[in-house]
Amino acid sequence: MSRHCHTPILAPSILGADHANLAEAVATVEQTGLEWVHIDIMDGHFVPNLSFGPGVVAALRKRSRLFFDVHLMLDNPHLYVEAFAEAGADLISIHVEPDYDIGGTLEHIRRLGCKTGIVLNPATPAAHIEPYLDTVDLVLAMTVQPGFGGQSFREDVLPKLAEIDAVRRSRGLSFRLEVDGGIDTARAPLCREQGVDTFVAGTAFFRAADKAAFAAAIHAL
Ligand code: DX5
Ligand code: ZN
Repeated sequence: MSRHCHTPILAPSILGADHANLAEAVATVEQTGLEWVHIDIMDGHFVPNLSFGPGVVAALRKRSRLFFDVHLMLDNPHLYVEAFAEAGADLISIHVEPDYDIGGTLEHIRRLGCKTGIVLNPATPAAHIEPYLDTVDLVLAMTVQPGFGGQSFREDVLPKLAEIDAVRRSRGLSFRLEVDGGIDTARAPLCREQGVDTFVAGTAFFRAADKAAFAAAIHAL
């Protein structure tokens, strides 16, 4: 029997696509036969970059039936979850590092009809997300410092992935464990060995000449 509780999912990040052609980017993801797309939202404050707002998500929603995995990199995510739910997010993940009512915001996301995710940065210990593990649908462990695509994968995060997977098993939980940052077909297997089942890839996916082969390599893990 597999030691994994979920089959692998590839969620391409449109941050790594041509921002003048985002509709084409989601179409490419669909045509590759994938079900998820990862959408990075940045506020220029929690991370030193800006990306997309709810209007972009709503516009893409009209063009796509993909599962929208929306990653909020915001200092005040509680002020925006409603806007992103209305825009068509299927899952909204929020960081554990800023100071706001995290439990209440997860509950709010759920009441809005979306799945929930809690995110932690490379330097944030797994213990910080433990209070939320019983309720979330997904844990997103950053494998780069968030803010920019195209950074190098942080191997020092691997033990933390195993730690989160161990808590999942010991508590009999079934949240998905997702990694984001520097993921390619060489790094994904290292993460899979630690229990990861959901793989975000921006640069590696959108630069891959053969996207179907890239997806097949992830699905075979
Ligand atoms: C980083 C974002 C990622 C980013 C990953 O802040 O959260 O989703 O798009 O890009 P790559 O795969 O290029 O590291
Ligand atoms: Zn992301």
